[in-house]
Amino acid sequence: MAGPVSFRPGCWLKSAFAIISEPGSKLLSSKGAQLSKAIQNQLNRSFTLDDGSFCLLKNFGSQDLEPIYQLEQRSNPHPWSKRNFEDSLASSHICVGVEEEGRWIAHAVFSIASGDAELLLITVDSAWQGRGVARKAIKIMVEMLEDFAAELFLEVRASNSRAIKMYDQFGFNCLGVRPGYYPSADGREDAHIYGMSLRIG
Ligand SMILES: CC(C)(COP(=O)(O)OP(=O)(O)OC[C@H]1O[C@@H](n2cnc3c(N)ncnc32)[C@H](O)[C@@H]1OP(=O)(O)O)[C@@H](O)C(=O)NCCC(=O)NCCS
Repeated sequence: MAGPVSFRPGCWLKSAFAIISEPGSKLLSSKGAQLSKAIQNQLNRSFTLDDGSFCLLKNFGSQDLEPIYQLEQRSNPHPWSKRNFEDSLASSHICVGVEEEGRWIAHAVFSIASGDAELLLITVDSAWQGRGVARKAIKIMVEMLEDFAAELFLEVRASNSRAIKMYDQFGFNCLGVRPGYYPSADGREDAHIYGMSLRIG
């Protein structure tokens, strides 16, 4: 699992936090599973992209795994395996996707436990990237999670400047760095740990 955490100067340091970011590694307690269910029950949220495309944010299940997995393979340079998705579904993680005209164009996986939520994965189909899909989907999820969690955490590769810009714009704070956490083409690369306080309703 993760190595020691070192903190970047200037990063906001949360006094104590625990991040588990191995896909599917966070088995939820029955309370967590209940929270996931409550959030999933609120899904089926529609939104419109700036270009007028009508999208639906909804749960995905094991019956949707094949197209979701294909999307992941073609659009994420560091894709989750099918097993990762299966583990998340089995662990009652919040598995959501964006549908446009009957096809999946994005997906995301969240976990929620002990009052904190974690964004474990978000991938937008490469043909749909840069059109506001992630921005709109995350905004809806953050608004929903505000009623169930105090903080939202995530980890991102240091080289993923596009995602980092997006998280900065959302108001996430950099909490620290896990040196050499991820395997990469030329060795290892750091993980940046981000967190954002959510309002509890
Ligand atoms: C990162 C990712 C999810 C963004 O999804 P997206 O739908 O393309 O993002 P959006 O169009 O909603 O843009 C949201 C913000 O991301 C940033 N962004 C998006 N595309 C960008 C680009 N080409 N260059 C720099 N920043 C970019 C911007 O901050 C943008 O906000 P803005 O439009 O107000 O400037 C998508 O690129 C992706 O799936 N990448 C592969 C998987 C991945 O890296 N996931 C994140 C792992 S932590």
